[in-house]
Amino acid sequence: MNAVLLNAYGDVDQLMCTEVSTPKPSAGEVLVKVSGTSLNPVDWKIRAGHLKEVLPLQLPVILGRDVAGTIVAIAPDVTRFKVGDKVLGLVNHSYAEFLTAKAEDLALIPEGLDMDQAAVIPLVALTGAQLIEKGVQPKAGDRVLVTGALGAVGRTAIYIAKLHGALVIAGVRKNQKAEAQVLEADQIIALDDDREIAGLAEVDALADTVGGPTIDKLLPKLKKDGVLGTVLGKPSAAGQFAIRVSEVWAQPDAKRLAELADDVLAGDLVIPIGKRFKLGEIREAQTSAEKGGTGKVLITP
Ligand SMILES: NC(=O)c1ccc[n+]([C@@H]2O[C@H](COP(=O)([O-])OP(=O)(O)OC[C@H]3O[C@@H](n4cnc5c(N)ncnc54)[C@H](OP(=O)(O)O)[C@@H]3O)[C@@H](O)[C@H]2O)c1
Repeated sequence: MNAVLLNAYGDVDQLMCTEVSTPKPSAGEVLVKVSGTSLNPVDWKIRAGHLKEVLPLQLPVILGRDVAGTIVAIAPDVTRFKVGDKVLGLVNHSYAEFLTAKAEDLALIPEGLDMDQAAVIPLVALTGAQLIEKGVQPKAGDRVLVTGALGAVGRTAIYIAKLHGALVIAGVRKNQKAEAQVLEADQIIALDDDREIAGLAEVDALADTVGGPTIDKLLPKLKKDGVLGTVLGKPSAAGQFAIRVSEVWAQPDAKRLAELADDVLAGDLVIPIGKRFKLGEIREAQTSAEKGGTGKVLITP
């Protein structure tokens, strides 16, 4: 099969689309024919070597966390699925034509949901949901500021926080404020405008998908004993404040993923696709995705 190998840490030239052997499912696993995957910031953080201390990998390795595809083989002990089922999931090694995955990490794609759309959901939707449901745990009426609100994790966090009855503030760049109207947040704030941050009333919680100096500037706006939910690790400045920090690292959750896929099908949760590339164009695709901009980058074999 064709797959993209990361041969060494570095720039996109370390990614090579090449022929490798097709994996075989072990106990509890299925073989999925990939119809689509998407790019996530973690892919280029790994590629560049930024995570090699916390996530040591044996190279070469096939990157990629999202999959939508069709089950083509099943280990004898797997009863949840049958050959031909169309599934999505938070997996590993999805920059490939085929992958093996734990059956328990996969969910059926709801009827009517486009395979391309399904391929961009798993990591970002599970992360956004877990950021709010496990990290922030807002009560109805809590003021929750979501940073990076137009990003894929941020959109999901906004959607889930609203479902919990929170009063949601979308934190975006100044030049994204008009576009952020689609999020239907209760308030929109420009995170790169210090005057707007200065004028922001205290919040009960921060749900952070941006990190760095942006979250440092927002910490004084979090009320005493408030919660910082973050998908980027605890900021060093957090120790200066009487707050609770909840680090969220996305975990597969097939049941929750199936519900989120239903929400996308219903049009309640929107995760737009920005650009599309073929597996063989992975270097251009990562270069493009790394620049930012609205929408997920979809990769098809
Ligand atoms: N902990 C976990 O398990 C986990 C899981 C998934 C993702 N993550 C992390 O979560 C972050 C977001 O992921 P994603 O998939 O949502 O990425 P994304 O779709 O690229 O969204 C990031 C959003 O944040 C905006 N942004 C970036 N820097 C900003 C700043 N200084 N001020 C205001 N807005 C800013 C971006 O705007 P522009 O496009 O204009 O830059 C974009 O709208 C990434 O760092 C990713 O690695 C963590």
